[in-house]
Amino acid sequence: MKAHRIADHVYCLHADIETDDRFEGIWPIPEGVSLNTYLVRGTKTALIDLVRDWTNAADQLRRQLDSLGTSFEQIDYIILNHLEPDHTGYLAELRNINPRLEIISTAKGIKLVESFYNITEGVRAVKDGDQLDLGNGVILRFFETPNIHWPETMMTWEETSGTLFSCDAFGSFGKLGDRVFDDQFTPEEHRFYEEESLRYYANIVASFSTFVERGIQKLSGLPIRCVAPSHGIVWRTRPAEIIERYLRYASYSKGPAEKEVCVIWGSMYDNTRLGLEAVLRGIESEGVPYRIHRVPNEDVSYVLADAYRAEGILLAMPTYEYAMFPPMAYVLDIFRRKHIYHKKVVRIGSWGWVGGAQKEYEAAIEPLKWESLASVEWAGIPKEGDIKRLEEAGKLLAQKIKGV
Ligand SMILES: Cc1cc2nc3c(=O)[nH]c(=O)nc-3n(C[C@H](O)[C@H](O)[C@H](O)COP(=O)(O)O)c2cc1C
Ligand SMILES: [Fe+2]
Ligand SMILES: [Fe+2]
Repeated sequence: MKAHRIADHVYCLHADIETDDRFEGIWPIPEGVSLNTYLVRGTKTALIDLVRDWTNAADQLRRQLDSLGTSFEQIDYIILNHLEPDHTGYLAELRNINPRLEIISTAKGIKLVESFYNITEGVRAVKDGDQLDLGNGVILRFFETPNIHWPETMMTWEETSGTLFSCDAFGSFGKLGDRVFDDQFTPEEHRFYEEESLRYYANIVASFSTFVERGIQKLSGLPIRCVAPSHGIVWRTRPAEIIERYLRYASYSKGPAEKEVCVIWGSMYDNTRLGLEAVLRGIESEGVPYRIHRVPNEDVSYVLADAYRAEGILLAMPTYEYAMFPPMAYVLDIFRRKHIYHKKVVRIGSWGWVGGAQKEYEAAIEPLKWESLASVEWAGIPKEGDIKRLEEAGKLLAQKIKGV
């Protein structure tokens, strides 16, 4: 990995993380994730955002600093846009290596520097609009953008290069390799990162969508030429693309989303699966696309991404011990936590004794503000009449999504 030049005085450094660990201990990252750090040089040198020393990230950074003729020892300021340990885990070691380093963050961020790293000296709290003059006409400006993703979050702006260092906003899963800029990736690679940015958004940022919109609105007057997030691609050619994409993602939690269905199903003995096939025939007959996930086989991280982007949701699960099939209960709980709101929904499922899933399901979706279009239950295997009702439920869901 090498350092990438954004301008003569601004460089992107990054560490690619490849691990079986999950991001935040929850979200699988089979394609890795990048931790991006930026170096800005006037007569003084600042690093913007750091790394957690995960799979040699600090070493990766050290080598890139070396290639720029500098080192951790020569950094004057570390700007912490956000205190989550994926961007700060290495802070205490960095301070030990370089005791004169000044740590800059919002007032809330500085409190977290103490609580996470026990550091109280050599820190500076900045507020909205404050500037840091690095010399040679290079000035950093700070904008508080709370709750994208934690309460202390800010973004940093460097005017002469037009670079917005946006931290988690506009980020994505997926390691980068030897390229970092939007114009260096093929359309196919962009499709991969687009999927990974949606999954990142749905997993990490979705519940803060209002703040994403507020933050983007607040910065809309800046002449942004480069969006430099702390994960994923650096957008120097088409910065508006990732900003618009994030606005679109933020809007999904309000209702109208993509004209497709996210199908989530779980079944013990295939009785529910037989019914599901009938609903899918109904959806297909209306020409509405769907993506399908079986739980618990597929990780909820991917289910969240597809459910977040789809306007319609089809849930298929049997009754289990007088309640929902447990993996589906978990999915719905995560949906509540991640604000998978305002969807058009059909639920189906088989029961054997007296049912019970439907009642728990209705309580579970109450906080989700879902529009329940139909629920179809049957005893044992679906019979002819059930099949008909199921096909019709599929048709209805598809028609509502098409808006007919
Ligand atoms: C562990 C277990 C718990 C069950 N609990 C209930 C229940 O509480 N109420 C009920 O009506 N049926 C219950 N059943 C019966 C299933 O709901 C029924 O067999 C259904 O057809 C299974 O659908 P599936 O083939 O899609 O898994 C239970 C079955 C199993 C294996
Ligand atoms: Fe974060
Ligand atoms: Fe992050």
